[in-house]
Amino acid sequence: MIALQKISYTIAALAVVSRVGASDNGLARTPQMGWDNWNAFGCSVSETLLQQTAELIVNYGLRDLGYHYVVLDDCWSVGRNASNNNSLAADPTKFPAGMKAAADNIHDLGLGFGMYSSAGKYTCGGYAGSLGYEEVDANTWANWGVDYLKYDNCYNEGQAGTQLISYNRYNVMSKALNATGRPILYSLCNWGEDYPFNWAPTIANSWRISGDIFDDWDQADARCPCDGDDAWDCRLPGFHCSVTNIMNKVSFIVSKSQPGAWNDLDMLEVGNGGMTDAEYVAHFSMWAAVKSPLILGNDLRIVPAADLSIISNAAVIAINQDPNGSSAARRWKYATNGTDANGRAEIQMWSGTLMSTTGGDYYDFVVLLINGNNVETVLNATLADIFVDFGAGGTADEVKIPWEVRDLWANRMSTTEAQAIISANGTAGYNGTNVQTRYNATQTSYAEGLAAADELLLGNVTTTIQPSGTVSATIAPHGAAIFRLRAMPTAATKKRDEL
Ligand SMILES: *[C@@H]1O[C@H](CO)[C@@H](O)[C@H](O)[C@H]1NC(C)=O
Ligand SMILES: *[C@@H]1O[C@H](CO)[C@@H](O)[C@H](O)[C@H]1NC(C)=O
Ligand SMILES: *[C@@H]1O[C@H](CO)[C@@H](O)[C@H](O)[C@H]1NC(C)=O
Ligand SMILES: *[C@@H]1O[C@H](CO)[C@@H](O)[C@H](O)[C@H]1NC(C)=O
Ligand SMILES: *[C@@H]1O[C@H](CO)[C@@H](O)[C@H](O)[C@H]1NC(C)=O
Ligand SMILES: *[C@@H]1O[C@H](CO)[C@@H](O)[C@H](O)[C@H]1NC(C)=O
Ligand SMILES: *[C@@H]1O[C@H](CO)[C@@H](O)[C@H](O)[C@H]1NC(C)=O
Ligand SMILES: *[C@@H]1O[C@H](CO)[C@@H](O)[C@H](O)[C@H]1NC(C)=O
Repeated sequence: MIALQKISYTIAALAVVSRVGASDNGLARTPQMGWDNWNAFGCSVSETLLQQTAELIVNYGLRDLGYHYVVLDDCWSVGRNASNNNSLAADPTKFPAGMKAAADNIHDLGLGFGMYSSAGKYTCGGYAGSLGYEEVDANTWANWGVDYLKYDNCYNEGQAGTQLISYNRYNVMSKALNATGRPILYSLCNWGEDYPFNWAPTIANSWRISGDIFDDWDQADARCPCDGDDAWDCRLPGFHCSVTNIMNKVSFIVSKSQPGAWNDLDMLEVGNGGMTDAEYVAHFSMWAAVKSPLILGNDLRIVPAADLSIISNAAVIAINQDPNGSSAARRWKYATNGTDANGRAEIQMWSGTLMSTTGGDYYDFVVLLINGNNVETVLNATLADIFVDFGAGGTADEVKIPWEVRDLWANRMSTTEAQAIISANGTAGYNGTNVQTRYNATQTSYAEGLAAADELLLGNVTTTIQPSGTVSATIAPHGAAIFRLRAMPTAATKKRDEL
């Protein structure tokens, strides 16, 4: 007995070592959450915008749902200052109080401050880039109090084309950030060029897998090639990539995500107006299930209540922040007869491991069903397909037991409730409106809440499923359903518990 235990400890220790990813900075053990101005504002940045947004993140309860980083994107500098060691200088018109003050204000609200640059001569907006200035820039950011760097790929002077060339270019900044001694989350953004999932996990906390997202469900766009079975080997990342385009791209590389190092599907578009409610629900569910960073990309000053309720769904966020840290994987994708403007009416099923919240022998499981049809469709997922990793052809033990099926959108905050939160804007009143759907992750982390089987995180039981059964859901056009499956006690497991 004792000898066996020792062996298993050794194996566990080895397993832990092999999973230390990232730049060893200890950050992003679960996917990072926050807000970035780019999708909604582009180059229109200012200290006022950051300050207002940071306050709203707190007032609307988003900080306490885990949205931690306020990220300033491109177009913030006026170039290098020769009288100050060639360091980057903030634009004094956009940031009259200076970048250190902007960072301090964000920190005072209990949030982290994110910064942007490019591993090139210029940023994508044409401002001074950091290639060749990695150390001086990392030091500047550390002095300002920066907690996060989004590092782009424009004007890279041809330093790309092989994995090693890209790795070396991005590793200079990884080392420079580390050398500052300040923990700075490193969000690598080279749009999936040179297979970053192979080399970025040891130097960065996340890496983009595609060209920039566009606020659309499945619009084909020549500027974002690779949309189907060729998506894994996209030589031209492009931009204007739809939600389904990016989801197809991640389907091939889900195993590359791990605690500290994540596939980044790009910032969220929820709240920017280009998609239907069902499409935004699906977009948010998809990003959560594959463990993408959840970085809001909307204008919070005008957030519609329905969209606030989407990004506030703690049961879905809990899938993203699950301590097991493994991405859901696509189990099947079928073309259907449903017609679609782009000929892409597909249905998909994804599933993946979650931490056990039952204290029993089985992990919880997430099931994501995606309806690409233009019509409402009933989608069906068999336990055999959901648990295929544990045994092909329905042979997994998991197929032989009954499961609780919890619909993670059943308890979605009502629009009335969300509107009350917006109207109260942080004053005590919003709390008087029966806000029963709020979870406070500042008070109780997702890991603790799941361990305590908090109902707000587990979702509502909508049905149960018998051994060898099928999970079915009626899903809106371009919508998704997402479920948490929890093993139900059986005679067999009960017996084992008693022993
Ligand atoms: C720098 O890297 C070392 C390991 O290489 C790690 O132990 C340390 O925490 C890192 N420091 C920062 C600030 O990221
Ligand atoms: C450039 O650096 C000098 C010396 O530190 C400083 O006085 C000046 O304000 C800086 N200029 C800008 C635009 O930040
Ligand atoms: C996550 O789940 C898998 C089973 O799919 C298991 O092998 C692994 O040890 C779990 N990891 C953690 C960190 O719990
Ligand atoms: C799912 O099952 C129902 C009931 O058997 C069936 O009507 C429906 O067509 C199935 N859905 C698909 C996409 O096959
Ligand atoms: C879901 O469960 C919560 C907590 O148990 C409960 O307050 C709520 O009424 C339920 N919602 C629905 C739609 O059943
Ligand atoms: C919301 O509250 C913040 C202060 O926390 C304030 O700056 C902002 O103007 C308020 N917004 C509205 C619409 O009242
Ligand atoms: C909500 O109000 C209750 C008492 O009415 C209070 O205990 C709690 O802290 C308040 N929560 C928020 C989010 O204001
Ligand atoms: C969440 O909990 C923290 C820490 O207890 C508290 O400071 C904060 O006000 C709470 N937030 C809400 C929205 O209740």
